[in-house]
Amino acid sequence: MKILITGGTGYIGSHLAVSLIEAGHEVELLDDLSNSFEDVLGGIRDACGTKPVLHRRNVQDVAQVLRGGGFGAVAHLAALKSVAESMADPLVYYEQNLVGTMSVCRACVECAVPYLLFSSSACVYGDSPHPSEETPPSPCNPYGRSKLYSEGIISDVCRSRGLRAVSLRYFNPSGAHPCGALGERPKKPAANLMPLLCAAARGDATLKVFGKHLPTADGSPVRDYVHVMDIAEGHVAALEWLQGKPPGEFLTLNLGRGEGASVLQLACEMAMVCEREIRVERCGPRPGDAPCCFANVDKARALLGWEAKRTLRDICADAWSVK
Ligand code: UD1
Repeated sequence: MKILITGGTGYIGSHLAVSLIEAGHEVELLDDLSNSFEDVLGGIRDACGTKPVLHRRNVQDVAQVLRGGGFGAVAHLAALKSVAESMADPLVYYEQNLVGTMSVCRACVECAVPYLLFSSSACVYGDSPHPSEETPPSPCNPYGRSKLYSEGIISDVCRSRGLRAVSLRYFNPSGAHPCGALGERPKKPAANLMPLLCAAARGDATLKVFGKHLPTADGSPVRDYVHVMDIAEGHVAALEWLQGKPPGEFLTLNLGRGEGASVLQLACEMAMVCEREIRVERCGPRPGDAPCCFANVDKARALLGWEAKRTLRDICADAWSVK
């Protein structure tokens, strides 16, 4: 099948391109390169032998790419993703993320593209510690709300116009393709844990651990770190599941390992993998952070037969091996 990935040169988009190509699909990417680099295309070629076409455009112009292109599916990943930025400037987040989603839905309908995969987030659950898809969503920031509202828009379009979609709620995608040529390489400075942990392992910085006395085993926050290649393979499985489903199908699915790990546990794993000491500083919690969040992944296992195969050790080893 021919598939367009919006946000295709981003962290998850580039790894998804590899998995889809390896599953036999033809892949094209759309990205405005606002938070990624064009040389990611070479990384994808190194990882799987094929360099996909890039359409350097804003996602709002997605119809121009889909028109007459013979695409069978869109994976819509292009979005702004910083919780902190979204709290400082919510309108920018609503505008970019919701208009982006509406443009993709409209273009799929106009161009008769039957299948859509959507990049959603555990952020839709707010501070529920162990959510399943039945847990009532309750996002606590504009970023999370923009994902939840996007899901609502997509589900309405499925119902009214016969689109079929799966919304994948990622927990904490981490790690990299094991070849070392792809990884998390944002243009904007990273605020999420893994890049900062790698910087601490290189000796460039001290890792601040947000939380000393949280109600977790070691007092530091717990999250569900899931390998980015497992996330990518979850999309491939979701697309397979969608094929043959009747028009109007809309499904939400958690993608995580279903196990929590604390920041200190992850720092220990990383220190073992790279055989270096990692300096940490215990600080107060980051405002708005939940103490603990890990997925219930029963639904993905039951419906897709998918589960994360890679361990915390693999996540650290592959993140560390990025060249
Ligand atoms: C949140 C969102 C996620 C979003 C991500 C990016 C939720 C459930 N998820 O993830 O959708 O994509 O932000 O902004 O809201 N930490 C440290 N020191 C650091 C950095 C982080 O201790 O220097 C801790 C955080 O307190 C957190 C964990 O590490 O407990 C992971 O943080 P991060 O990688 O930012 O992801 P989330 O906040 O879980």
